[in-house]
Amino acid sequence: MNYEDLMLRVIKKANQFKYTTKPNPVVGAIIFKANKVISEGYHEIYGGNHAEINAIEEAQKYQGKKFQDFSELTLLCTLEPCSHIGKTGSCAEFIVQAGFKNIIIGAVDPNPKVSGRGIEILRNNKINVEVGVCEDLVEKQNKFFFYKHKNNKPYITVKIASSLDGKSHYNNNEKIFITTESSRNDVQLIRAKYDAILTGGNTLRNDNPQMNARVDFSVNQAKKILLTQKPFDKNLNFFKNASVDVFEITNLIDIINSYQKSEICSILVESGPRLVNSFLKEGIVDELIIYTSKKELGKEGISWFDKDNAVESYGFKLESTCKINTDTKEIFIKDE
Ligand SMILES: NC(=O)c1ccc[n+]([C@@H]2O[C@H](COP(=O)([O-])OP(=O)(O)OC[C@H]3O[C@@H](n4cnc5c(N)ncnc54)[C@H](OP(=O)(O)O)[C@@H]3O)[C@@H](O)[C@H]2O)c1
Repeated sequence: MNYEDLMLRVIKKANQFKYTTKPNPVVGAIIFKANKVISEGYHEIYGGNHAEINAIEEAQKYQGKKFQDFSELTLLCTLEPCSHIGKTGSCAEFIVQAGFKNIIIGAVDPNPKVSGRGIEILRNNKINVEVGVCEDLVEKQNKFFFYKHKNNKPYITVKIASSLDGKSHYNNNEKIFITTESSRNDVQLIRAKYDAILTGGNTLRNDNPQMNARVDFSVNQAKKILLTQKPFDKNLNFFKNASVDVFEITNLIDIINSYQKSEICSILVESGPRLVNSFLKEGIVDELIIYTSKKELGKEGISWFDKDNAVESYGFKLESTCKINTDTKEIFIKDE
């Protein structure tokens, strides 16, 4: 069997679970004997069985029929099997107990709790381990997870909606929609990808936003993060069916660092100009998404930025641009 073909097959199939496993990575596993696939397994839901366990349990149904002993089989998984006893037990130990002799791994798990320890357990038990098949694709599939563990901070994206004349909202704080419904639907898909959504006290009080992902598929809704030093009404939409962390401190580095040891790998900032500019000034933003409408707010509008070239001077470069209805969506990433 061609390992790359098998890896591509499981990477592709694992992708369907990306909204229900987050903030965990998506992982797929396949078990085969010579040219025959015996079973497949996926990490399907946060807190549920890991992919390797599901694949092994599925294979057990065919023991004595398609194969006699697990030592005849090869297990291929996209990510290194875990070494720690988490919610579901150590996968590396489970694989050893099953009796495998050959394992193919896509990428080493970047989580310091695992990072090579899973492979060590396998090799210490005389299992042949090959690592690095389609490694780049596995990393790309779990972009936020790899980023978090490599940089010891969540991936931070700021998303803003701007009028044609660069404004965020009216100075009387009247609640308005700047962009088209199509762009706002696109935002729902972005929210579905993130582990946490962060906003500030003024946006909470002025707009009473829900900031959840209103999509027609299953998704683990993001944790909410609120930065405010002022009293707030807990009955506001932001708090409905949500787990909310509230910070009274204003030091953004301290706030972000407090997520170093958490499972949160990505944060979407959806706030007004004050907080957005504070984030950008701190240099902790990795991506900036700007939806620009054809509408102008005029002199009653509050500007997003003081200068026309603010995005570039904050160190961002344009990654992509597209039209959504009459709006333009631009994605900028940090120019390293
Ligand atoms: N067009 C868009 O995409 C968009 C998106 C979101 C919001 N908005 C608009 O933005 C307006 C509010 O904008 P805003 O920037 O004044 O309010 P904001 O989004 O609530 O952010 C500022 C607030 O965040 C809190 N904060 C905590 N740490 C901070 C820090 N280090 N730097 C700055 N703020 C910090 C403070 O809350 P406390 O004052 O409560 O302590 C501060 O007043 C709203 O009326 C809303 O309509 C527009």
